[in-house]
Amino acid sequence: MTGELLLVTGGAGFIGSAIVDAALARGYRVRVLDSLRADVHGTAPEPEAGSGPGAKPVPGVSPGTGPTLRARNVLPAGLDSRVDFVHGDVTDPATVARALEGIDVVCHQAAKVGLGVDFADAPDYVHSNEVGTAVLLAAMAERGIRRLVLASSMVVYGEGSYRGPNGFTRPGPRLASDLDAGRFDPLDPVTGRPLEPVLVSETDPLDPRNVYASSKLGQEYLATAWARSTGGRVAALRYHNVYGPGMPQNTPYAGVASLFRSAIERGEAPRVYEDGRQRRDFVHVRDVAAANIAALEFTAFDWVSPSATAPVETDATPATAAAVPPEPVGAAPSMPQSVHSDSGIFRPFNVGSGIVHSIGDMATALAAAGGLAPIVTGQYRLGDVRHITASSERLRRELGWCAQVTFDDGMREFATSPLRAAVRP
Ligand SMILES: NC(=O)c1ccc[n+]([C@@H]2O[C@H](COP(=O)([O-])OP(=O)(O)OC[C@H]3O[C@@H](n4cnc5c(N)ncnc54)[C@H](O)[C@@H]3O)[C@@H](O)[C@H]2O)c1
Repeated sequence: MTGELLLVTGGAGFIGSAIVDAALARGYRVRVLDSLRADVHGTAPEPEAGSGPGAKPVPGVSPGTGPTLRARNVLPAGLDSRVDFVHGDVTDPATVARALEGIDVVCHQAAKVGLGVDFADAPDYVHSNEVGTAVLLAAMAERGIRRLVLASSMVVYGEGSYRGPNGFTRPGPRLASDLDAGRFDPLDPVTGRPLEPVLVSETDPLDPRNVYASSKLGQEYLATAWARSTGGRVAALRYHNVYGPGMPQNTPYAGVASLFRSAIERGEAPRVYEDGRQRRDFVHVRDVAAANIAALEFTAFDWVSPSATAPVETDATPATAAAVPPEPVGAAPSMPQSVHSDSGIFRPFNVGSGIVHSIGDMATALAAAGGLAPIVTGQYRLGDVRHITASSERLRRELGWCAQVTFDDGMREFATSPLRAAVRP
């Protein structure tokens, strides 16, 4: 039982709300700051002055929100009534200052997510994700709050890691001519043969390939700088493909799991791009929430960096037999790797189940529940990565976390569990 006061930004979202439930169960008192983005939650609710369970303070803590905010702090459907809800934007310094009152530790989930519709989305990504993080970190620095869990993403790696005839390699973006010809796997430039995908580890090179990805990496850079400058402690969780109850169903930013799940709900077969053999690591939202709880606790303690001579990480699970590439000798200086000095800690962790599945596997598992068979279309989206799967060995070894929900159980539940209500703009 911790009794600490935790701020979850984005706590009304898909992952944030699962974290809130896990944190309450763990004994945290929880405040949520969420703007209830219209493209996520639909049109924001009308303010109801002084009403709603959101007006209820966390025991022993002043709500810390001014009259305007308090009037709007109606608890969104689905959030536990014990939550102190602040309806506001993480880019607004005054709102953030009030939301941080009395806070011991912050779990920063708020972000504009997904791949975006087109480049016109760029300012929104940068504002919401990078400016929002900067505002939050500045306010934490000012108040002496030194503990942060940051929601990052596998997208910081870009394409996954591969093994070719000359060792480990990171191929560039695939060519339209190869994709048109059905050559979906990245090819070795010398032999022209497909490269063998392997698991990415936290020390792999980072290569964000779209604005969302660069904004997630931007958040990591900001958190690294904050840790150095304030002595703060950061666990950055690089989630892989998160799925589970409460996923959004119809936004242009939704991930492939919810697109398939929505198709099945409409009685349609999921349509699978390429040949369906794209490798991913699907991790259940309750496991992601548990990883956040473990990470919150990581930020509370002194941490000693594993020896530089630590053995190369391997994954014992047969389904993940592909090797993890050895850690590069001296990471490129522009890459946020673990930072541990007298003045702070930044430590990234992959959050994946550790088991490799294909997108076709997921479509088959979900479609089976609706008595359907997926349709493999051969279509492609230029810019999609072919394979990206993680070693989550660091999270397991250092934080004692282990995924509990199996692919079969999780997909069976997800096939029929409710999605988040459709957005009505
Ligand atoms: N879903 C995934 O598979 C996945 C994978 C990797 C990383 N992530 C990261 O996990 C985090 C949570 O993602 P999610 O899938 O739950 O998304 P979500 O859209 O369901 O939740 C995000 C929440 O943040 C809120 N929000 C957005 N911008 C805000 C702002 N400026 N101020 C205050 N609130 C704001 C939204 O209203 C929403 O409730 C994000 O940081 C995302 O980048 C998600």
